[in-house]
Amino acid sequence: MNVKPLRFIRRGELVTLHGVPPDRTLLDLLREDLATTGTKEGCGEGDCGACTVVVAEPAGDGGDSLRYRAINSCIRLAHSVDGMALWTAEDLAAGDGRLHPAQEAMVACHGSQCGFCTPGFVMSLFGMYQDHVVRGEAITPELAREALSGNLCRCTGYRPILDAACQMGQQPLVQVDEGALAARLREIAPASAASSGSGAYLAPRALTELLALRAAHPGAQVVAGCTDVGLWVTKQHRRFGQVLDVTGVAELRTLREDAGHLSIGAAVSLADAFNALVAQRPQLAAFASRFAGLPVRNSGTLGGNVANGSPIGDSMPLLIALGAEVVLASVRGERALPLEDFYLGYRKTQLAADEVVARLRVPQPAPGEFLRAYKISKRYDDDISAVCLVVNLQLQDGQVRSARIGAGGVAATPARGTGAEAALVGQAWSQDAARAAGAALQAQFRPISDMRASDAYRRQLLANLMERLWLESQGAATINLERPAAAQALLSEEGLA
Ligand SMILES: Cc1cc2nc3c(=O)[nH]c(=O)nc-3n(C[C@H](O)[C@H](O)[C@H](O)COP(=O)(O)OP(=O)(O)OC[C@H]3O[C@@H](n4cnc5c(N)ncnc54)[C@H](O)[C@@H]3O)c2cc1C
Ligand code: FES
Ligand code: FES
Repeated sequence: MNVKPLRFIRRGELVTLHGVPPDRTLLDLLREDLATTGTKEGCGEGDCGACTVVVAEPAGDGGDSLRYRAINSCIRLAHSVDGMALWTAEDLAAGDGRLHPAQEAMVACHGSQCGFCTPGFVMSLFGMYQDHVVRGEAITPELAREALSGNLCRCTGYRPILDAACQMGQQPLVQVDEGALAARLREIAPASAASSGSGAYLAPRALTELLALRAAHPGAQVVAGCTDVGLWVTKQHRRFGQVLDVTGVAELRTLREDAGHLSIGAAVSLADAFNALVAQRPQLAAFASRFAGLPVRNSGTLGGNVANGSPIGDSMPLLIALGAEVVLASVRGERALPLEDFYLGYRKTQLAADEVVARLRVPQPAPGEFLRAYKISKRYDDDISAVCLVVNLQLQDGQVRSARIGAGGVAATPARGTGAEAALVGQAWSQDAARAAGAALQAQFRPISDMRASDAYRRQLLANLMERLWLESQGAATINLERPAAAQALLSEEGLA
């Protein structure tokens, strides 16, 4: 099957590559096809950050500004950077050898020992530099910790690297010529899929094109950010003869508020989707920052998390507790269903062969909403949940007016805690009510034991998290939020302290 040429801008020059297979990863392209081995391969599954590169595309504001994202090249398909600008660790130093501030700060702060992780760290630093330093914003240690949570270092230790992140803004400013780059990107902007409707890598730009291609090519592998699918390639050695990439579809990249809802297109990145959710519900900030690491959140999409349907996925318990609907689209039209009804069994969903996830519709916060999202995992950053529990109560005059509970890690699918909701609604909000809800969760779910946690531990967590929710509602505990002051401010806003 023919595949259209892959074109991107690197070091200000157009790179055009022919015959790149649809399932070639960006890392293999860089290291094996282009012999740019400065980008390293560690885990090959998005966990270590050694392969981090930065991509940029027009910010979509009609001007010349660009949007930069640090991503894991090991699990990203090469064709997904078609029409973008790309930087690797080899592209940062100036022509005369002067280091970029991200590199200079790593040297000055002694941020490297064996050096294997260093190209990846430097690229995450470069992404942060473009996102913050160039815009006149300081890098705080908190911001640095969050942006570097997807990069692992086994020998230097993180303090010097965090110091480098905070200090790179003190060097003379180095800027990308965005006007010139934006002009080059406009020249290579991908055309509509109509011209490549039978190709091996289909990348439609509009929803009607996507739906027509989905109907015409039921065997094509649908991909979004590839943070799940990429591992099928690198770890399971699966091959795809034809790929249908949804991330260029304008309608699926849209985030908007309409009629009491936040509508999040399926191809909106996890980073942008969580930013929008946190803007409405600041208490979700810590939970959002614990979904993978930033490079995964930069590539991965909310629609991909929902469609993948993992029972230990994190956004689904949250979206279920928020009362979100998933909107599915096909050439036959659209249908919307409550997210909890989308899941039929272990990794089985209602998605028909010709459908895609188009968007998620999330109701705006209700008056009296008391919401907490808990993720329990072995490692604080960049780890998969053993249990995820999200509880959304509407409290009025000390009574529970409504309750929605989403749970992950305790059943074959992401699930709604209906028994606990029934135990709470209409009751006075009290420790006894919270304990009754915990018991109802334990009665409803029969978790399994696996490498992440035993069934007994998971069941105990369900009760313990309801107890923790009660304590937090009384202002006594602030353990899920990193800053006690912020937690206290939240409780005051919620009228609970
Ligand atoms: C290091 C690492 C850490 C991770 N940490 C977490 C974590 O903390 N919490 C968590 O929940 N997940 C985590 N994940 C899993 C993954 O990042 C998420 O599931 C992500 O949301 C998947 O989105 P994607 O866009 O990358 O999907 P893809 O990998 O592109 O696709 C996933 C599945 O969804 C389908 N799909 C994608 N978009 C659509 C659409 N619009 N319509 C129909 N089908 C579609 C694809 O066909 C495929 O079956 C992690 C992954 C990695 C590699
Ligand atoms: S090689 Fe480890 S994240 Fe890519
Ligand atoms: S410097 Fe050796 S792994 Fe980081």
